Amino acid sequence: MNVIEKPESAERLDLNTPDLAPTELAPQIKPDLLSVEDAASMSLGTMTDLFMAHINPGQMHFMKLLGFNKVKVERAEGMYYYDQNGRKILDFFGGFGSLALGHNHPRITAARKRFQDESRHEIAIAFMSQYAAALAKNLATVSPGDLDMVFLGSSGSEAMEAAVKLAERAAGPDRPKIVHAVNSFHGKTKGVLSITDGELYRGQFKLVDNTVRVPFGDIAAIERAFRADKQIGAIVLETVQGGGGIVEAPDGFWTELRALCDRYGVIMVCDEVQCGFGRTGKFYAFEHHGIVPDITALAKSLGGGKTAMAAMIAKRDIYMKAYGAPKNALIHAQATFGGIGESCITAIEALNVLYDEGLIENSAQTGAYLIERLKELQNRYPKLIKDVRGRGLMVGLEFHDFSQAMPLVVKPMIAMLDDKLKGSLPGFIGSALLRDHGVLVAFTEYNRNVIRLQPPLIATRAHVDEFMDALDAVLSKGVVRIVKDFVASQVG
Ligand SMILES: Cc1ncc(COP(=O)(O)O)c(C=O)c1O
Repeated sequence: MNVIEKPESAERLDLNTPDLAPTELAPQIKPDLLSVEDAASMSLGTMTDLFMAHINPGQMHFMKLLGFNKVKVERAEGMYYYDQNGRKILDFFGGFGSLALGHNHPRITAARKRFQDESRHEIAIAFMSQYAAALAKNLATVSPGDLDMVFLGSSGSEAMEAAVKLAERAAGPDRPKIVHAVNSFHGKTKGVLSITDGELYRGQFKLVDNTVRVPFGDIAAIERAFRADKQIGAIVLETVQGGGGIVEAPDGFWTELRALCDRYGVIMVCDEVQCGFGRTGKFYAFEHHGIVPDITALAKSLGGGKTAMAAMIAKRDIYMKAYGAPKNALIHAQATFGGIGESCITAIEALNVLYDEGLIENSAQTGAYLIERLKELQNRYPKLIKDVRGRGLMVGLEFHDFSQAMPLVVKPMIAMLDDKLKGSLPGFIGSALLRDHGVLVAFTEYNRNVIRLQPPLIATRAHVDEFMDALDAVLSKGVVRIVKDFVASQVG
């Protein structure tokens, strides 16, 4: 395998060698490091070798199935990636919602360049940061009610860890239990993994045991849990379930939940890491329901598609209860890179661009057009498409189980395998979209029959048309040809 050899251990200095005084240390020999230029010009073959040797060999299996192993992205702009062959790839994946502004938005790159040219400072631990202060103020401004207190971090998991810890402290030591939902996803760090529902992620780990699991959107089940268990202090839900398959709670759920939380004194946390930042046609998805949670969290697109930035935003009284006094103030103060300068200015600019360019309205309008066009397609291919759902540009396209799409004679035989085959039809269709039409889509973790569509919020009707033409061309081949072409692509 063409991988970089590590230097022999003899070349590494043992700093504990007793007879070597510091002044007698031999100079550090620079190891054979790759440069930034080496990285940029790396061949697809070397990338693959290094991924296998140092990142995640098992994941390569899935990359090959979807054809991702054949793409080296050379650059990305707006709605498109450009690969090593100059091919444009339309991005309807959008980094699971991280690319609201598209790739390399010129205002974002210009703001970052200015920040660098002016030699601004980054780490916000000793001195206060004007950038963190401005970002926190902006987040308080766009957040309804008294969601005023902001914790800055660098991943959705970190923001959700902050949310759960704040809720637990504010609820007090007698109410440490947290309600979460079936098919929830809140991150993979150990604390929030305990309220992330997937066996795939949770299976092997010892998790915190103060959790209570309820069906998503089931207000009666939640009330029963609140009534039965006085130790419940918080409930954590995604406002729209992403990994669950783009799923919304029934009408009226959120207002009833707000009332229930108030009645039982339970802290309500809405995870907006994926559905926030304008994705559903309002800044926060909970704004569609006229409620304000006690704590929320953002990440993904808050980084302007260019950096890692996340925030927990909480009501001031809850924050003050948990961390308001000097003796509590440092219990969960920001980590080393929380509020780092260039990430903050990127997020400040991202928020300004979101409003200046009317991207929240565009998400609502272009999303409605996408859903309308997908529903037309569902009418034309009812044996393939089971459901179209979503809000704004957070859209789920659910396919039937494999057997439903098969000719009558083989249907009963295939039906026995439907559970095992879940995800294969969207996988074949997704790989055909990339292979034959240069279109990238995503999938959902728990309902594997769903293709997840979360294009940048800069998408226009023309981009939707381009996507729909590609999807129509794939579906029009029929399921047998789709499978045959997939098999050929794997052996070819
Ligand atoms: C709803 C939700 N919460 C939390 C997270 C975790 O975010 P991150 O991957 O940035 O840690 C995700 C990530 O997909 C998410 O979708």
